[in-house]
Amino acid sequence: MESGAPQARVTMEEITALAKRRGFIFQSSEIYGGLGGFYDYGPLGAILKRNVKNAWWRENVELRDDVVGFDSSILMHPLVWKASGHVDAFHDKMVDCKVCKHRFRFDHLKDAAQCPDCGSKNSFTEPRNFNLMLKTWIGPMEDTASEAYLRPETAQGIFVNFKNVYQSARKKPPFGIAQIGKAFRNEITPGNFTYRLREFEQAELEYFVPDDGKDMDAFREWVDRRKQWYADYGVKPERLRFYELTDAERPHYARAGVDVEYLFPWGWGELESIAHRGTYDLDAHMELSKKDLRFFDEASKSHYTPLLIESSAGMDRTTLTMLIDAYEREISVDPNGKQTERIVLRFDPRIAPVQVAVFSLARNKPELVERARAIESGLRPSFRTQYDEGNIGQLYRRQDEIGTPICLTVDYETLEDRAVTVRERDTMRQERIEIDRLDTYLRERVTR
Ligand code: GAP
Repeated sequence: MESGAPQARVTMEEITALAKRRGFIFQSSEIYGGLGGFYDYGPLGAILKRNVKNAWWRENVELRDDVVGFDSSILMHPLVWKASGHVDAFHDKMVDCKVCKHRFRFDHLKDAAQCPDCGSKNSFTEPRNFNLMLKTWIGPMEDTASEAYLRPETAQGIFVNFKNVYQSARKKPPFGIAQIGKAFRNEITPGNFTYRLREFEQAELEYFVPDDGKDMDAFREWVDRRKQWYADYGVKPERLRFYELTDAERPHYARAGVDVEYLFPWGWGELESIAHRGTYDLDAHMELSKKDLRFFDEASKSHYTPLLIESSAGMDRTTLTMLIDAYEREISVDPNGKQTERIVLRFDPRIAPVQVAVFSLARNKPELVERARAIESGLRPSFRTQYDEGNIGQLYRRQDEIGTPICLTVDYETLEDRAVTVRERDTMRQERIEIDRLDTYLRERVTR
């Protein structure tokens, strides 16, 4: 069968339908009507997101000897958020429509004079600040003294531990501390599926450099590395842009900033922010805590505050990007000239939830089922595998829709020639491969 031309760009309706149908992403608490800004990852979504996080961690921590991993608590001392500026300045402007009572983020309104929900003119209240941090209480008393915040970013856990980490890991700038973890923001208007959530995951890399005049080189290198990472995992370059923030768009302390943006079906949206934050974060914690977090340089026997290059990527947004970017609806023509449509997720095999599907041609032939199950369990320790049986056309269709790069079929010939039919997701090409060669064959195709 020939692989055909891709059809029009996917819509969010198609993505959300596929995500639910195949078990990637479900609305949280769906049976109670859902909860705005919260989603659950189903069996395939959980693996996909884990693979995306592992891909980030591998590149930014495991493969680098100048970056160490970290995992801080979600709840931290409230003064962390005072020092970081989140208590006083982490807010969006919101307005309420006095007619329909709906609430909006002021900077998201297309027309500041007309309500997008009920159409009323000049019905908005004055814009006022709304702090985005979610609050809870620690301990048995629900009073202001026990108030705490669910972290709105993972980075602060790294800053307050800077000294613990560099001393225990024996690191010297330039070096980085990386963490992946949950963050919470009480977004006024969550939306666009898992793009704007109230509970989400961030992968943050805080790279500390000496103030030796090479800090902007370090910033550029991180931008290039992140560009390379998206390219390596196959995100289409024409749907990715690296937007350089202007002086007016950056916070006053940031010396440079680049937003990584993806062209979602509704338009460009931020995936990651890369920023040169100077000494702002460590200075702020030193000032409020009165603790010295500067680096002690043994060579010069002097203290200094390193500069910070931050790369902060949303893992839910990256997972959603991988799903959208991989999605293709194709018209194919089989050898008999018949047109068929297929939906295929062209995931990079390293992040595909299932890498190899193993089928038995018939479910009522024990010798085929046994052989197929034995092959699948033999491959399972090395690859993400799945066993299935029945109508091969339907099985291919299902595996294409979940992005499985390779399918193997055990048929009657297998019993004679000790080989299986291997079918590639992208080309739909089929070939016979001996069972003994499968491990090497698959290793070359699904791992790198
Ligand atoms: N420490 C820097 C920081 O948190 P940010 O630009 O506010 O910077 C970084 O967030 C990334 O976190 C964003 O680029 C986005 O991918 C993700 N993110 C932020 N808010 C989010 C939300 N409400 N839902 C999902 N992801 C979000």
